Amino acid sequence: MRFIIQGGRTLEGNIRLAGAKNAATKMMVASLLTGEPCVLENFPEIGDTKITEELCGSLGSKIEKNNNILKISTPELKTSKVTSLSRRNRIPILALGPLLARMGEAEVPILGGDKIGPRPVDIHLASLTAMGAKVEVLADRYVGFAKNGLRGAKIALRYPSVGATENTILAAVLAKGRTIIQNAAIEPEILDLVKFLQKMGALIEFGANRVIYIDGVEHLRGANHEIMPDRNEAVSFACLAIATDGRILVKGAQQENLSTFLNTIRRIGGEYEVKKNGIEFYRAGKLYPANIETDTYPGFMTDWQQPTAVLLTQANGSSNIHETVYEDRFGYAADLNLMGADIKAQTKCLGELPCRFIGGDHCHSAIINGPTELEAAKISVRDLRSGIAHVIAALIARGESSINGVEELDRGYEKLDERLKALGANISRV
Ligand code: EPU
Repeated sequence: MRFIIQGGRTLEGNIRLAGAKNAATKMMVASLLTGEPCVLENFPEIGDTKITEELCGSLGSKIEKNNNILKISTPELKTSKVTSLSRRNRIPILALGPLLARMGEAEVPILGGDKIGPRPVDIHLASLTAMGAKVEVLADRYVGFAKNGLRGAKIALRYPSVGATENTILAAVLAKGRTIIQNAAIEPEILDLVKFLQKMGALIEFGANRVIYIDGVEHLRGANHEIMPDRNEAVSFACLAIATDGRILVKGAQQENLSTFLNTIRRIGGEYEVKKNGIEFYRAGKLYPANIETDTYPGFMTDWQQPTAVLLTQANGSSNIHETVYEDRFGYAADLNLMGADIKAQTKCLGELPCRFIGGDHCHSAIINGPTELEAAKISVRDLRSGIAHVIAALIARGESSINGVEELDRGYEKLDERLKALGANISRV
């Protein structure tokens, strides 16, 4: 599927955020920890939740959906093996913990997801091993056993990985005894998952300095939860408003989860008003260059640099982006350059944050020289967030762009074309 986009229109109006992709999928996996029904409100209808529905369904979950409300219940896990879904996304690895906890064994396929670096899972596996599981890595799958159940452990993560923190929490809530996770990720989506688990009966506390304490309980019950609004959608729509010199009220956008972005956007020359029901974004005047470094929460998120980079192609001067979370997230620079941008990806660290990629050959920094006029182009989406950069670039470019591989965008953005049309975009899906 393709998007055909005619650039040059100013986007204006209101847009409501969908539920957060990176919270919804984890909560669906968390629901496997109980035999009782769970209800998730503000549930996003996107590709990644569909894949997770398939995963839970294959394990025995019964699922009903109505008006962005998901009811999911798994009275009995009918198998400990996830056999399909190989390389489709990164959720199956998170099923290891719940399956080991409830069945003492688990099998999940090798992961897929965005091609933004090697994306190993050693930290996930190290945590589960510390909790008493044995996990074998085979060519096409991970096979785990915990015949005597999982037990709490003191675990220091080598890096505050979002997925590994979630996996450890999901395994620890039903383990025997206390688990202490040091150097844990503390992204808002993790907090939202923890809120859901707490409603299910789990005992989880956040200490200072990225420490999470979990006391295992005997069993968990069903719970209702309203999924937090998607802050990555919020940033995408904010950049869209400023790039097209429009004015968009992003309904549901939460200041507390976006503060680093809000500061950056103001430095660049964007403006915003925090309202009761969301945040309204617009341009203050001309756009200025910026130096941005991505980081774990509460830093500038790695999923925000792509839409922000499009803004920087329109800024007056030279900007840097230093990506410290993923090795390979500047593939989209070549696509924007094809449209007339001037972005040079670099292996050097262009920033001051400690970076695991220093001295390596990963192009993990970029220099963006602006302003550059963008021309329409034919582009293929590489991954979800570079795809949104393509869409924003096409919306400000001169002429008609064709963006191939829209399925990738559908993984994370709910009905993107329909919602952008309502803001005045000239976009169609073919
Ligand atoms: N890492 C390891 N070993 C591990 C796990 C991670 O080396 O065992 C490395 C990764 O290779 C990467 C870094 O740690 O360089 C960060 O990875 P992390 O595990 O934190 O990310 P993730 O859980 O795979 C989630 C989101 C990403 C988001 C990151 C960072 C989901 C499904 N995905 O990925 O979102 O960028 O956290 O916040 O929650 C997206 O939504 O498009 C997306 C890519």
